[in-house]
Amino acid sequence: MGDRAGRLALAVKLLDADPETEVVASSTVWLNKPIGVARGAFLNGAVTARTTHSARGMLALCKSIEARLGRQPTARWADRPIDVDLLMMDDLIRRGCGLTLPHAAMLDRPFVMVPAVEIGGHMVHPVTRQTLGQLLDGEEHGMVAHGLLPQPLAPRPFAKYNHRAITPATGSQGMKIFIDTANIDEIREAHAWGILDGVTTNPSLIAREGGDFIETIHEICELVKGPVSAETVSQDPEGMIKEGRLLAKISEHVVVKVPLTAAGLTATRALADDGIDVNVTLIFQPAQALMAAKAGAAYVSPFLGRLDDIATDGVQLIDEIVTIFGNYPELGTEVLSASIRHPLHVSQVALAGSDVATIPYKVLSRLVNHPLTESGNAKFLADWDTVPDNDIAGQVSRWLEKRGS
Ligand code: E4P
Repeated sequence: MGDRAGRLALAVKLLDADPETEVVASSTVWLNKPIGVARGAFLNGAVTARTTHSARGMLALCKSIEARLGRQPTARWADRPIDVDLLMMDDLIRRGCGLTLPHAAMLDRPFVMVPAVEIGGHMVHPVTRQTLGQLLDGEEHGMVAHGLLPQPLAPRPFAKYNHRAITPATGSQGMKIFIDTANIDEIREAHAWGILDGVTTNPSLIAREGGDFIETIHEICELVKGPVSAETVSQDPEGMIKEGRLLAKISEHVVVKVPLTAAGLTATRALADDGIDVNVTLIFQPAQALMAAKAGAAYVSPFLGRLDDIATDGVQLIDEIVTIFGNYPELGTEVLSASIRHPLHVSQVALAGSDVATIPYKVLSRLVNHPLTESGNAKFLADWDTVPDNDIAGQVSRWLEKRGS
């Protein structure tokens, strides 16, 4: 309704103005017939953006832009000033009532696919595993080009942050590394290495640090801007759901952790329907992981170290869960290998294809510090000391100056 082109343009600008989001490409504006009870013609466009928001945070941003542009609750598909929908977010699959990714109907709607393919034809739809370009039938379905959405000025680095941007759940980044601790100094250090995708905590880890639980979780989320697991302690579904909903209010990055019990499954379904990511923990056999995935878990946490402790092969558990989830990619649940005890576990779960490994600080630092790396480095430095002019920065600067560059 109203100034449709003006509102679309404003929506793109508001998205880009968000301090955690940058629009990187915008499509043509297309004119098409509406579906449902709406009248007249609709204008549609698509953008791709980089963000450090979680999917839940991104959805909230879209809703807040709709509200700022005058959207009121109306009947489904009635005339409205604007819709801002989240179509895909990396390779995330979510099946809640409040948050469904990829957008459930995008593939059937040319007015979505035509602009989406213009700017994201190479993007892989995580359920069909085909690119959007392959999934569009090549026709324009009577849609008429009607100008352009505001275009980003030029390709630019993700400039809004002075730290590495962490986008949650990107299989394309290889196995994700989480740190298994509630110690903020350990998290800060691993984050500074530029390798940290998220954090897991549990009641024992929180108790060990002794600080304020809620403040600790908040501080970790602000620092890492990636998934941070915070565990419920109620044992009944109502209590777990209540705690989970409250924990999720601390930050959009909170992932609610529940144990694999009957109550945990009920809570998982309810929280996932709300659009809240759930990590189902204390998993010791493959079928438990399947149950959790069916309930809508975003992550399952199989504990390999605790199985090894009782002379059972923990890595085999990871291997089997990865195979099962590979058979049913539409589940969208990530395997988060937990209870990791030593560096070998990390390479073993990566070989098995785990999506995530959550690693205690002690093991993480052993991955970085190897005695042969240290002695090799010391030898290189000793040899370099014998080179007469060994100031690399000075030498390169003088050389560049001489070449006039
Ligand atoms: C992580 O989510 C788990 O709580 C943790 O990895 C358990 O590890 P532990 O067996 O060393 O206590």
